[in-house]
Amino acid sequence: MPILVTGGAGYIGSHTCVELLNAGYEIIVLDNLLNSKRESLNRISEITGKSFPFYKINLLNEGEIEQVFIENDIEAVIHFAGLKAVGESVRLPLRYYHNNITGTINLLNIMKKYDVNRLVFSSSATVYGMPEKVPISEEFPLKALNPYGRTKLMIEEILKDLFESDPNWSIALLRYFNPIGAHESGTIGEDPNGIPNNLMPFITQVAIGKMPELSVFGNDYQTADGTGVRDYIHVTDLAKGHLKALEKVASSQEIEAYNLGTGKGYSVLEMVEAFEVATGVPVPYKVVSPRPGDAAICFADASKAKRELQWTAEKSLRDMCEDSWRWQYNNPNGFDKNLIATGTGNPHLSKSGDFFNTKIE
Ligand code: NAD
Ligand code: UD1
Repeated sequence: MPILVTGGAGYIGSHTCVELLNAGYEIIVLDNLLNSKRESLNRISEITGKSFPFYKINLLNEGEIEQVFIENDIEAVIHFAGLKAVGESVRLPLRYYHNNITGTINLLNIMKKYDVNRLVFSSSATVYGMPEKVPISEEFPLKALNPYGRTKLMIEEILKDLFESDPNWSIALLRYFNPIGAHESGTIGEDPNGIPNNLMPFITQVAIGKMPELSVFGNDYQTADGTGVRDYIHVTDLAKGHLKALEKVASSQEIEAYNLGTGKGYSVLEMVEAFEVATGVPVPYKVVSPRPGDAAICFADASKAKRELQWTAEKSLRDMCEDSWRWQYNNPNGFDKNLIATGTGNPHLSKSGDFFNTKIE
């Protein structure tokens, strides 16, 4: 029986589809392509040599979701679909509440109606707000700092209530730390719209010459070099965590939250240096004011996932940097093949282009 992947055309969803197909799962992808491209689905098929059904459907349309459940006997759902930009959520809170929460409730209504009660949900480390200490474990107090974070927190609460009302459900709440990197083939990866909000896509766009320099948001935090520290996790490791969570929800009846991170933190300047060392491409930067709402240090205690899911992140920071760059370099305009590259011609590009055909020590 197939696994339904909502948001499967997106960044984390597409990498998870690859791992699911490689592991022999049947999948069905549901996505309205609001923040993704159909081409990512072609690439999933290219990487895996497998095809799968795709439904271009908005979760806000309950009738359309129902059609998927009428046509397919679904085993479990991995629910990625949602809007995720923090700044936009502050400007457009109703859009975020409507899309993320109403969309999820519609999905849950149909799952309940068709007796599908195994769910893996994309939560976020953002539910810990400003953590008072690190590493962050699942028992830490939860607090949202913005509407996006509040949608994650509210959905977690909704899912807990649902489980209380009917213990036949089995639900994994996966709290991701900072996913970066791309599939090692360099054919799928993160494809942000416009100016990237997150650090790694910004670094790769500076490296390819689309942005002149990185703005480092503050160097006066209580950290070793004063810049913010985060727990960066390779998206393929994260994707594999979903397969472990799927096995867990298939074999138990509970609702559990799991941190998916590496347990190690790196500062912004360490990330810049690691990227430069891994790729040989310089990343000019300047220090600017801190970004409002940013914590100084955030990294996971990932021992619960290790203990209960038998999952740990395996890829190194170098892998994350190399794979991010391979994706960006091979796809300067993301999945949009029709655009002419807008890079300013970084002098290091040809050197680093050869780099991927060469074994670097
Ligand atoms: P993404 O934007 O690349 O993927 C989300 C997908 O959901 C997109 O393809 C989008 O088109 C689709 N979608 C959105 N609203 C929809 C709707 N109403 N109906 C159907 N499809 C819809 O994001 P991502 O980085 O892959 O994140 C996946 C999930 O993980 C999101 O829920 C996000 O909040 C969460 N998350 C992401 C990060 C991160 O850093 N990327 C961190 C923590 C949590
Ligand atoms: C951000 C979101 C968080 C979301 C996460 C993953 C905010 C306030 N938080 O977290 O809710 O779950 O992304 O999508 O937006 N940095 C720079 N320059 C940049 C970009 C980032 O210095 O151009 C720094 C940040 O200050 C931070 C680190 O790099 O210290 C990582 O930033 P980012 O990738 O945006 O992730 P988070 O801040 O952890």
